[in-house]
Amino acid sequence: MTGLDVRVEALEMVYEVDGEQVHALRGVDLEIAAGSSMALLGPSGSGKSSLLTLLAGLQKPTSGRALIGGQDVSAMSERALLALRAREVGVVMQGPARNLLPYANAEDNVRFAQRAVPRDRRDRLRSPADLLEQLGLGHVRRSRLGALSGGEQQRLSLAVGLAGAPGLLLADEPTSQLDAVNRAHVVEMLVTAAAGGTTIVVVTHDEHIASQVDRTLALRDGEIVS
Ligand SMILES: Nc1ncnc2c1ncn2[C@@H]1O[C@H](COP(=O)(O)OP(=O)(O)OP(=O)(O)O)[C@@H](O)[C@H]1O
Ligand SMILES: [Mg+2]
Repeated sequence: MTGLDVRVEALEMVYEVDGEQVHALRGVDLEIAAGSSMALLGPSGSGKSSLLTLLAGLQKPTSGRALIGGQDVSAMSERALLALRAREVGVVMQGPARNLLPYANAEDNVRFAQRAVPRDRRDRLRSPADLLEQLGLGHVRRSRLGALSGGEQQRLSLAVGLAGAPGLLLADEPTSQLDAVNRAHVVEMLVTAAAGGTTIVVVTHDEHIASQVDRTLALRDGEIVS
């Protein structure tokens, strides 16, 4: 399948904290071609996660809009967004446990993420065992979330994000807790997904990831600076 394109128009996100306004995004415009990969860089607090959660439709922008495959996620119903994420958009949020089912084992977490994939795309799915193996998780495939280390949970989150062979993967710092060997596993996984046509947006401080993507973009104080 072909990847989904992304278009961001004048996106602003203002949070209210104790009556004070925090401007997380100050008018971001962005286009990402279908099937291409982009790394999002920038200092802590610059708005990277805010941008990713808006693309995922996990929150609504203060103004502006975000379109995925031509659909305006800023205006979609919760129900439509759930379907979009279950079928088309893989999301790996910062903090691995937030992406996972606590009472299911690793393999079942991956299997669950494949349940809503339409019939005509099922032949593109990789088996949970195969996905876990590629991320160095073969030996813990029957372990529950609580029995996995932080780095194992992080790799499992990526396996779950890619389980449905999505048209778009949104991943927030997928290697922050990993050693060099496992960072390489993750990079290999992202490269495989990109080769399969998945559009990739990855927030990262990892030079290795940044060197493998088509384009890098930096945010500072909620604005694109390069
Ligand atoms: N839910 C929220 N409520 C209030 N303020 C928030 C919320 N989420 C983010 N912020 C604020 O918005 C700004 C941008 O945060 P964001 O999480 O997008 O940054 P980031 O670039 O992902 O940082 P990091 O590299 O530390 O993950 C920060 O000042 C943060 O405190
Ligand atoms: Mg963040």
